[in-house]
Amino acid sequence: MEKFKGVISLAKYDLLVEKVKHQIQNEIWNVGDKLPSLRKQVEISSMSLMTVLHAYQILESQGWIVSHARSGYFVAPKIQYANSEHNSSDAAIHTTENVDINNLIFDVLQASRTPNIIDFGSVYPDPKLYPRLQVNRALMAAASTMPTSSALDNLPPGNKDLRQIISKRYAAQGMNVHPDEIVITAGALEALNLSLQAVTQPGDWVVVESPTFYGSLQSLQRLNLRALSVRAHPRNGIDLDSLEKALQSHSVKACWLMTNHQNPLGCTLSNEKKGRLIELLAEYNVYLIEDDVYSELYFGSKKPLPAKAFDQQGMTMHCSSFSKTLVAGFRIGWVAAGKMALPIQKLQLMSTLSASAPIQLALAKYLSTRNYEKHLRQMRRILEQRKFTTWQILSTYLPSSVNVNYSEGGYFLWVELPKHMSSIDLYHQALKENISISPGKMFSASEKFDHCFRINSSFECLASEEKAIKKLAELIQNSINKGA
Ligand SMILES: Cc1ncc(COP(=O)(O)O)c(C=O)c1O
Repeated sequence: MEKFKGVISLAKYDLLVEKVKHQIQNEIWNVGDKLPSLRKQVEISSMSLMTVLHAYQILESQGWIVSHARSGYFVAPKIQYANSEHNSSDAAIHTTENVDINNLIFDVLQASRTPNIIDFGSVYPDPKLYPRLQVNRALMAAASTMPTSSALDNLPPGNKDLRQIISKRYAAQGMNVHPDEIVITAGALEALNLSLQAVTQPGDWVVVESPTFYGSLQSLQRLNLRALSVRAHPRNGIDLDSLEKALQSHSVKACWLMTNHQNPLGCTLSNEKKGRLIELLAEYNVYLIEDDVYSELYFGSKKPLPAKAFDQQGMTMHCSSFSKTLVAGFRIGWVAAGKMALPIQKLQLMSTLSASAPIQLALAKYLSTRNYEKHLRQMRRILEQRKFTTWQILSTYLPSSVNVNYSEGGYFLWVELPKHMSSIDLYHQALKENISISPGKMFSASEKFDHCFRINSSFECLASEEKAIKKLAELIQNSINKGA
């Protein structure tokens, strides 16, 4: 009898799952529409609350709908790749002997410093989301109680308490990272740069994603390294078959990859893919420099694992920071460097010496309270709401030939214009209207993504932001009309 009951209820929620799918396919519910609330659906379907909840959870796990804290369930953004670079038959691997990106990045970053700009181009989250008062209080306390030996105590590998706290955060994910493996750095960027320097010589080949965070290209340029850009997909991330071909055809020393909430695409590699990635790199004896600064900003129920969690050989240098979650200006990051911890410390000693002592102390103080977790929970919820709202507004105003890629987590939206268009032109036109965007050229050693741009969705969508999106849409439409 119990078994029979189970079969009936299974059929019931399946029925609702199929019904809602059918309604979405037939555009009764369109992307972004709010679905009937659980209670309303109970009334409509005459099913129990548990059955309806289960059906919605299945639809969510299959990617048909998304839930937003306190606002309900919505039809999930569709990712259309019709005009996407990522599906094209273009080369999946691109080689660049001399990376030359720094001047462009410098110009774009300088231009976005205009006061009162609508800063869709920013790489940092809305600074209002940082717990400024609490962090400042911790800084003041640290500065006033700092022992005179502090400069020495905080030399590489960095503040012991802070390394211990970071090690515990890895342990909470089931990872065993000893504090001695961790080196505290000036932001993730120093961690990434030192890691790359520790395992390469000028002229070596390094794999990056295409598109990639421009910091990796700047680092390659600075160290005279050669770039092998491997295609990444907005939903699934780096194409591992292409990566394998790159490893077969070139003598690669290191891979610099973003495994969670990639910048600029927003995609996260599945655990299965992270495991395969590690296997592949171990087979070719290639170091992984894992750039993982956004993993705390997940929207699901659990923080995504880094690829390092699958690494048995100690070939992964996992780099992260507090710049995206706590405060940007403190410039504190770290690398869990495995067997490269000592060479990295020696390189740090030759360059910046160490991360700032009072700031390391302040962070260790702040992180030893429960405030960080509380803050992160709140920040994730706000980012999720804002990302969805920004995506909805963009989808409402932008012409239908423009594709806005939505991803769960982080705060970037990747926008693809029709292929013949240039986002650099759009960027210049938008700047005159006091709006910044990040043009696609910033994220590639080639011209491949000139028709794309990245939008920061972390700011509250007030009337001024909506007006700016309308303006962007108008500029894009004008260019389409002119056939530009
Ligand atoms: C993917 C990625 N890695 C690294 C960094 C640098 O982080 P930090 O500001 O901690 O140096 C950024 C931020 O700009 C980023 O987007």
